Amino acid sequence: MTQIQNFCQTLLRGCFRSPVMLVGGICMSFALNPRLALVICIVVPILALAIAVTIRIASPRYTVMQNKLDSLNNEINETITNERVIKSFVREEHEKQKFAKVNDALMDKSISALKMMILMQPISALAINITTLAVVWIAGRSIMIGGMQIGTLTAFITYLSQILTALNFVANIILQGTRAAASDRRITEVLNAKVDLNDDRAACRDRTIERGEIEFCDVSFRYFKHNTEPVLDHVRLHLPAGAFVGIVGSTGSGKTTLISLIPRLYDADGGQVRIDGVDVRDYSLHHLREQVSVVLQKNTLFSGTIAENLRWGNENASDQELAWACKVAHAEEFIRTFPDGYETELEQGGTNLSGGQRQRLCIARALLKRPKILILDDSTSAVDTATDAGIRKAFREELQGMTKLIIAQRINSVMDADRIVVMDGGKIVDVGRHQELMARCVPYQEIYYSQKEEAQDE
Ligand SMILES: Nc1ncnc2c1ncn2[C@@H]1O[C@H](COP(=O)(O)OP(=O)(O)OP(=O)(O)O)[C@@H](O)[C@H]1O
Ligand SMILES: [Mg+2]
Repeated sequence: MTQIQNFCQTLLRGCFRSPVMLVGGICMSFALNPRLALVICIVVPILALAIAVTIRIASPRYTVMQNKLDSLNNEINETITNERVIKSFVREEHEKQKFAKVNDALMDKSISALKMMILMQPISALAINITTLAVVWIAGRSIMIGGMQIGTLTAFITYLSQILTALNFVANIILQGTRAAASDRRITEVLNAKVDLNDDRAACRDRTIERGEIEFCDVSFRYFKHNTEPVLDHVRLHLPAGAFVGIVGSTGSGKTTLISLIPRLYDADGGQVRIDGVDVRDYSLHHLREQVSVVLQKNTLFSGTIAENLRWGNENASDQELAWACKVAHAEEFIRTFPDGYETELEQGGTNLSGGQRQRLCIARALLKRPKILILDDSTSAVDTATDAGIRKAFREELQGMTKLIIAQRINSVMDADRIVVMDGGKIVDVGRHQELMARCVPYQEIYYSQKEEAQDE
């Protein structure tokens, strides 16, 4: 963007003056002395040729340089955002070396591209000086034999310098343009990137979710086409509107993937995900995501106050609504302990809060949307057991019409759910209440007893 900006600024400064100077200078010098003016006709093609050769060589080099700049930016971004991890693993030296490597690569490519730019300067200076010399030489002889006056020569050289300055400007702007064109290709690439998830199928764009009943009809999914093993394998599941549903299963069993298909973070490869009997692809993304609130496993808060962060869920939410959501998410108790309360400033990523506090704010933010479907992906993992139970109790009392899906590692967190979905290896192994699953579902029993033993050991 900076390259394009620089190009436009330079262009604006000279785009009127230079052509006028060029054309005006050429006309005036032909009017003064047509024979001398022929010298200009020799220098202009030479300069034009030099510019053409430079562009041809420099253009691909700029593209490579721009790519190297991308790598450098990625490297810096990754290092700064993961600074704490790098420190805790004592990897500073390694990161420095990685940075030096991409930085050197950028330097090499920049030098190779800029060499061409640097060459242009002496070439045009040489052309200008040789032309002036030729004019003085030819005119000097004329003056000596009395065929021309010194004043005419002075005037001619002035026009000549105007013409050559204008030409120099044109050469420069063309070279800058070459660089800007390489940047423009990168920007266009990003802007034209095709989004797979779109509204193309949604025939009725005003359709909204009324109840929040969810149905997975023989759903299969894999992250990459070339993967042989599907991440979700012919999943069938029906969850009535307003139900309180727990999802448990070993890590990597596909829980996050399963719930990602509901707000269309991904589209199913096979089968259908339906809400209120309608395929999710038949809702507009706007209406779908407005009614499905997800608190993701890896959550983000933004810099700004707590209230600003909460209003991401609903920008028009009143203070009472904020208080309600925070009460349900059990966030109010810690917000009240801050001197600035809801106006407390959060740092980028909410790093001045504890993990559990961040999770509770994220839940409150999701509640403010007052969605029909609320999904929590392991969102109370950093919260103590008593608060966790308190949040679930508040959910039962306050969110009665809302379908609630809660993924949890701790069976305690979902034990009292209306139904519990047990997943393993991308399949749904069983669905039922705690007592039913304890009686018949072996994987569920295994998880239950392993957690119970752990608790006893402690
Ligand atoms: N973005 C992704 N790209 C490629 N593969 C992925 C991606 N996310 C998950 N997977 C793969 O899909 C499988 C299921 O992952 P998923 O995140 O759904 O598991 P999970 O049950 O939520 O696990 P956990 O309890 O650890 O959160 C895993 O084998 C994982 O390697
Ligand atoms: Mg997960």
